[in-house]
Amino acid sequence: MNPFQYYNPTMLIFGPGKLSLLAKQAETMGEKVLLVYGGGSIKTHGVYERVIQALQKSGKQVFELSGVEPNPRVSTARKGIELCRNHQIDWVLAVGGGSVIDCAKAIAVGCTIDADVWDLVRSKVTARSALPLGVVLTLAATGSEMNPYSVITNWETNEKIGWGSPLAIPKFSILDPELTYTLPHDQTVYGVVDIMSHVLEQYFHHQEHTAITDGFCETILRSVIEYAPLLKDDPNNEDSRSTIMHAGTVALNGITSMGTIGDWATHNLEHAVSAIFDIPHGGGLAILFPVWIRYALDRGTAPKKVAQLGINVFGLKSTDFKDELELGYATIIALEKFWRSLGAPATLSDYQITLDDAILESLADKTLIRGPFGRFQKLDRANIIEIYRRAQ
Ligand code: NZQ
Ligand code: ZN
Repeated sequence: MNPFQYYNPTMLIFGPGKLSLLAKQAETMGEKVLLVYGGGSIKTHGVYERVIQALQKSGKQVFELSGVEPNPRVSTARKGIELCRNHQIDWVLAVGGGSVIDCAKAIAVGCTIDADVWDLVRSKVTARSALPLGVVLTLAATGSEMNPYSVITNWETNEKIGWGSPLAIPKFSILDPELTYTLPHDQTVYGVVDIMSHVLEQYFHHQEHTAITDGFCETILRSVIEYAPLLKDDPNNEDSRSTIMHAGTVALNGITSMGTIGDWATHNLEHAVSAIFDIPHGGGLAILFPVWIRYALDRGTAPKKVAQLGINVFGLKSTDFKDELELGYATIIALEKFWRSLGAPATLSDYQITLDDAILESLADKTLIRGPFGRFQKLDRANIIEIYRRAQ
């Protein structure tokens, strides 16, 4: 296990019905709030009215930025920054999924710097302060509600880049599972795949004596595998929605990487695909993650760890297989079978995406902006192109 530091100051307010505590929480914040939300789901499902009532009850002056896109755009963050500057906003409230929260982070931090927010995302400038951020989560997936990360897309350059700052960690996050009952099934599934992928990115590491961190990872995966299928026929299942929401937060708030260094190549591969084709993040991961694991096994990188996953998460028995490698391949099949049983896509052709040589090169360029990547399995240009080919 590596030495580590852990810092996570988000006040989590978790539980069915807990949106009712927003007014009380808002009382602890400044007077002028920028309310950031997406394309309208919160209006359709009555969340917007409840949020506005809570903010009015606590005496806030509310300004709004609506229309944050899935795969949020830097152009939208710029609009929010302008609003903050023009109205001397005191704090930002994100109501939505990861895209809304990520955009709100870019606004909250970006409005304090003397440069364009894209320079912040590209790590060309470092922020020294930020407006405080509050969150009401409506989609369990990214973990953005309790982490320092944000992923922003620039449609002028077709780049999708993740950045992070401790200043962007939300001050409070209200996690009310009831707000996720209205999710369409495909968004629920993308969320589940994203949650599991975050755990897998961190589970594939080379550190040893990491029993607690590996155990956290395995518990989260087993819980998601047990509870997610219930939502197919029963989207209002409180236990399942609560478990998935809890899983999404702890899957990427630092607990699952204590003392370890995860891989994160698959996220980089996926971000390049959604930067060009604008597909849902979780859909891209469902396609690419099994390909990445199989590629690792083919190169002899990971049999022991994949076998551990198969035994501890998917309940496979080592005695049923010739060796770790055979067990590893069976584990990938179990993972694919689970995701497909939920309705996740399996190949890029499910999104009508075909990759010619020019697109393959362009995808590889985007993934390599910060150089070769993958800390568990290092990938060079040829490896990257091969993985994309296999994902078709
Ligand atoms: O825009 P609205 O109308 O609100 O609709 C949204 C959106 O269309 C809808 N939705 C959200 N809550 C709903 C709902 N519909 C009905 N009922 C509800 N309760 O769902 C759609 C997708 O929302 P989005 O926020 O885009 O999804 P998600 O939470 O999966 O976020 C994806 C973004 O987060 C980034 C991804 O790359 C992608 O850009 N990520 C952020 C991370 C982070 N900050 O730590 C890590 C992740 O790995 C990921 O990269
Ligand atoms: Zn993700």
